[in-house]
Amino acid sequence: MIQKLNAVRTLSGTVHLPGDKSISHRYAMLAAIAEGESVIRHFAASQDCHGTLRCLSALGVKIAESGDAVTIHGRGLRGLCAPAKPLDVENSGTTIRLLSGILAGHDFTCSITGDASLSSRPMGRIIQPLRLMGANIEPREHDLPPLVIRGGSLREIRYSLPIASAQVKSCILLAGLYADGVTAVEETVPTRDHTEIALREFGASLRVSDGWIEVDPEPRLRARHLTVPGDLSGAAFFLAAAAMIPDSDLTIPGVSLNERRRELLSYLERAGMDLWVENETTESGEAYGDLRVRYSAAFLKRRMPDIKGAETVALIDEIPVLAVLGSQTAGGLEISDAGELRIKESDRISAVAVNLRAMGAEVSEKTDGLIISGGRKLRGADIATRKDHRIAMAFAVAGLVAEDETRIHDAECVNVSFPGFIDTIGKI
Ligand code: S3P
Repeated sequence: MIQKLNAVRTLSGTVHLPGDKSISHRYAMLAAIAEGESVIRHFAASQDCHGTLRCLSALGVKIAESGDAVTIHGRGLRGLCAPAKPLDVENSGTTIRLLSGILAGHDFTCSITGDASLSSRPMGRIIQPLRLMGANIEPREHDLPPLVIRGGSLREIRYSLPIASAQVKSCILLAGLYADGVTAVEETVPTRDHTEIALREFGASLRVSDGWIEVDPEPRLRARHLTVPGDLSGAAFFLAAAAMIPDSDLTIPGVSLNERRRELLSYLERAGMDLWVENETTESGEAYGDLRVRYSAAFLKRRMPDIKGAETVALIDEIPVLAVLGSQTAGGLEISDAGELRIKESDRISAVAVNLRAMGAEVSEKTDGLIISGGRKLRGADIATRKDHRIAMAFAVAGLVAEDETRIHDAECVNVSFPGFIDTIGKI
């Protein structure tokens, strides 16, 4: 589907976000291996998270949905059953990497597959530690999916993450639940800690000190009633749009403000944006609150602070839309240390560069980032999204400030994380 967009005069009102994708995946998986009936409210509308639910159903878990609430009848730590056919995670890297950790502890063979994008994403990063733990895990070739996993009893490991990845960390911690002793993972660069928080909520025992996270094996996970906060990565598109479109004023209630993700807000404040948090609170270990953002002409006259090092890790999913925003500030933006972006749902460095150039911006590509010159008015163009949801949404935002029409190709890919994204823009 081609979605056409034109510039808008202003944005105002309230944006209701879907539940956070990362948290929804974790709650669903832990509820499946807990004992008893969990209810997860405001579960992500995203296709990725529904893919996780489908995989869990195929593994014998009874799941009922009503509106945005999901009831999951947990089968206990080792209670999943061999699926009748390969599990299909579609586009979701989080599903394949986290679920592999759980399947590594189950005594059956199963195969996990996905769509064309997923099938080109590296799995060596989870295969290596899972093999060290004693799991039998075979990729198709070159460490790519499909993966065939023969799980069973696992050995404890102490593992230093060679790359900053919350998915890899989470995979090992989940596998650690099935190990013969305490499993420890070290991260030198902090990544999102939703798994650690959720594991504790479901009753696992976990210690964090000096960058090491230790998890005790064989916990008795208890079913929980939980509510998923709004997805901050989804909010990023609206924050960027409001910052570029005169007189905009948006309220975004109930957004996840997890310490490891909210770097986005500190970064944008440092960049000079007019934005603040109201009504902050914490529930089930996860912080959330309401965001307010207003257009500020002064912000657009500046250069955005460089994004590099640990900040790149913290902002990794927001970089496509930050790049669009940078192109509309007078001084532009440079992004470094973002090599991981080349192996997301698409090569996001190349996708951003190609599409920003198509819209008239001056951009150069580095191996691990982008240099975006600011100050050039964007013009409408045909956007090749590469079926990547974050590219589609970042360039839909670009279309709201461009001269003439912007056409987002394969726009239905936004459903991967944010069904209703275009309608939400319409409402404000
Ligand atoms: C995620 C971790 C990040 C992020 C992805 C979701 C998660 O990936 O980009 O969208 O839920 O753990 P990496 O762990 O590969 O950096």
